Amino acid sequence: MCGIIGILGDHQAAPILVDALRRLEYRGYDSAGIATVADGRLDRRRAVGKLVNLADLLVEQPLRGQAGIGHTRWATHGGPSVANAHPHRAGRVAVVHNGIIENFRALRGELGGPWESETDTETVVRLCETYLDQGLGPKDAAFATVDRLEGAYALCFLFDGEEDLLIAARAGSPLAVGHGEGEMFVGSDAIALGPLTDRLTYLQEGDRAVVTRAGARFFDAEGNQTHREMTRIRVDAARIEKAGHRHFMAKEIHEQPQTLADVLALYLDGDRVAPPLDYDWDATDRVQMVACGTAQIACAVAKYWFEQLARLPVEVDIASEYRYREGPVGAETTALFVSQSGETADTLAALRYAKGKARRILSVVNVPESSIARESDLAFPIRAGVEIGVASTKAFVNQLTVLLALAVRAGVARGTIDAAREAELVAALRALPGLVSQALAIEPRCEALAMRLAEATDILFLGRGTMYPMAQEGALKLKEISYIHAEAYASGELKHGPIALVDRTLPVVVFAPMDAVFDKTVSNMQEVMAREGKVLLVTDSRGAEAASHGVWEVLVLPRIDPVLAPILYAVPAQLLAYHTAVHKGTDVDQPRNLAKSVTVE
Ligand code: F6R
Repeated sequence: MCGIIGILGDHQAAPILVDALRRLEYRGYDSAGIATVADGRLDRRRAVGKLVNLADLLVEQPLRGQAGIGHTRWATHGGPSVANAHPHRAGRVAVVHNGIIENFRALRGELGGPWESETDTETVVRLCETYLDQGLGPKDAAFATVDRLEGAYALCFLFDGEEDLLIAARAGSPLAVGHGEGEMFVGSDAIALGPLTDRLTYLQEGDRAVVTRAGARFFDAEGNQTHREMTRIRVDAARIEKAGHRHFMAKEIHEQPQTLADVLALYLDGDRVAPPLDYDWDATDRVQMVACGTAQIACAVAKYWFEQLARLPVEVDIASEYRYREGPVGAETTALFVSQSGETADTLAALRYAKGKARRILSVVNVPESSIARESDLAFPIRAGVEIGVASTKAFVNQLTVLLALAVRAGVARGTIDAAREAELVAALRALPGLVSQALAIEPRCEALAMRLAEATDILFLGRGTMYPMAQEGALKLKEISYIHAEAYASGELKHGPIALVDRTLPVVVFAPMDAVFDKTVSNMQEVMAREGKVLLVTDSRGAEAASHGVWEVLVLPRIDPVLAPILYAVPAQLLAYHTAVHKGTDVDQPRNLAKSVTVE
């Protein structure tokens, strides 16, 4: 998604802006631009495609000035083009914007054409320029503009003739003010501001900020001046480097033994599960789990855990459906939202729908300062560290681990598992980082297999029980970064339709650890092989011994308590997708059309 940076500095701003935009690249973008004020004159440069195009343009046509704003754009209203790229400008004002102005059509009608771009954002600068024309000063003009906007936005305004002023505003999209020594910053996330300052003030919903080099003044949605706490944020620089890996995704896959150990240290105490926050799981009748994408798949796995270990019924929803379905949310229902970024627009809207109806709002989030974390009654951290690769890997594995810890905790609280079973599961959890390390040893095999998977146009993933959502994860990872069409089915569903797809060109990846449903899955696998489908069986040593005959390829993982198997089987899902994508030469960390944090509906 789009990224914002604003600087009131004491050096030339352009290189610092481009550097900050580089740190925002991971969010996904298709054009970029900056604007500065020098000798009182506002000017801007914009380019389509990767940041190198903007950097090259700036070599040809430099921009001077110590005050500036910058933006990476992920197209929503209008395709990627220079005209649609930010900053947008009308006369004396330029603006960068994340989010969507929902009433932009009405504003366009009111302001009248002609329009330079197809964007909703252009209405913001045009409106602000109109207020400047009416004689309002920059602050009042920006505030009056923001008062007229509907939708979700983070905005940063820069004005002609104002070399010591940025106006920032937030509604629905995160934005922070960074405090330096005689310098001030605005950024859409802590990573953008990381090397510039570690002192941030997050704007709250509806807030505006008037930023000068002397400091920032904050105003609430009604325009009343208000106090906002400054916090020190530790963005571990090491975690935003590739550390010798070719891609962030590879680095993040290999970090998993460590990030798992980090989260387990927070949720385990001796042979007990002891989450950092307590919840009375025995006082709730059912759980609604809501999320998007990979986070929703983590919920689908957790449904098996909560139902089996805690005998607690769980409904899993895709956030974009949940929010509009207007289903009943009873007072005994616990609503639980899972999100890496904590800013996903649909998940946040779903949370707001459940608020006031559900017994409590729980969340499992990676970014502790995020909107979802802040708006929850209890926000369970996953401690995965900064995740840069668009395809979620280490965050998914830590989401699963936290959800399993919560399911065990719920089982203990509800008396459905005893201390001995809890201790067994804790021992298995403690062994996980080591097992994930061992599982990473299959990488050379995955690389070799990937060369062959890369030739396919379609790939099917099958699994039963918790391996069904893991098959979904395998298919999602593969399609998003390799662009190969992939689908997942519960293996028992195969004969109800998808088996028609099977022929000798179709690779079928089967996730089947030796567990209670292994034999059933193997029967379904035989049905594929009887029709010449090419089965890649992902299993453990016992499974390989029992069922390798006649399969195309086998990947053997360490043996593990079946309850924890989905966490381990994330590794082959990730490695197969990663190496297939590398082999196809796609942009692994920033796949086409995708964004890291999806802050629009
Ligand atoms: C896929 C992926 C996405 C996200 C989804 C939700 O690899 O990363 O499907 O899981 O966009 O994002 P968060 O977890 O930030 O709410």
